Amino acid sequence: MKSVYFVGAIAAAALAAGCANPSRSRDLANPSVPALVMAQQVCSNCHGVTGNAVSPNFPNLAGQPEAYIVSQLSGFKNHGRRDPAGFEYMWGLSRSLTEEQIQGLASYYASQTPARQPIEGDASRIAAGKAIFEGGAPACGACHGSEGQGMATFPRIAGQHADYVVKQMLVFQRTDERPEGSVMKTVTHGLSHDDIKNVAAFVQSLPKR
Ligand code: HEC
Ligand code: HEC
Repeated sequence: MKSVYFVGAIAAAALAAGCANPSRSRDLANPSVPALVMAQQVCSNCHGVTGNAVSPNFPNLAGQPEAYIVSQLSGFKNHGRRDPAGFEYMWGLSRSLTEEQIQGLASYYASQTPARQPIEGDASRIAAGKAIFEGGAPACGACHGSEGQGMATFPRIAGQHADYVVKQMLVFQRTDERPEGSVMKTVTHGLSHDDIKNVAAFVQSLPKR
């Protein structure tokens, strides 16, 4: 995890060096900075310019439903979502965002095209993950869409980094740090760590190819 904190420190230093012109500004506490500028100047450091993050430490945001992004940014801002990486990174970043900026950021990422991810693991892992995705009770697709594409406040999980998916499923299974996702506690209850790794590998491989 050391490298994560290192990246965080660099980004924090970059954020501190804001400037006065709102069309270039990195100032997260200035309500007149447009969402697009913020996405390009600040959020891109971790989530990528188009919401496709290079490092699996950072979730992909491209193609996430608008309502889900709004709910998560609001959750970080009001401290409802408090998993460790969430509060470490996103509490400070969301602290001063206005509702208009949150809405603008959400519609920007929702309209971006998700990149295809590399296949993680061998064919047997993907097959075992597919069986959980389709055969679980309830099946993942019942809420996240048959292709994992997400809808409204159900997040897109198709093409999400497997590492991030594993991390979040363990948060739901073991903690109450994401209260909006309490339904995921039931979903993950009977899954072993290996089951979780399998379904995460399958999810990263979506959409079907
Ligand atoms: C320094 C790195 C960093 C920056 C800059 C950053 N984020 Fe994040 N963001 C993260 C990390 C790490 C997570 C995952 C937190 C977790 O594991 O709970 C995250 C999570 C999120 C999530 C939740 C995604 C999901 O799938 O639930 C959203 C939405 C988000 N960030 C939006 C933004 C926006 C908008 C900005 C710019 C205002 C931004 N982030 C800037 C690191 C960053
Ligand atoms: C009954 C509905 C439901 C089912 C079934 C379900 N989920 Fe979820 N899931 C949710 C909701 C709602 C959230 C968002 C919680 C929040 O707002 O924090 C979520 C969140 C997630 C997240 C976090 C995404 C992110 O970007 O942070 C992952 C990963 C996930 N689910 C994977 C799965 C997998 C894999 C399955 C099948 C084994 C599954 N879910 C089945 C409702 C469901």
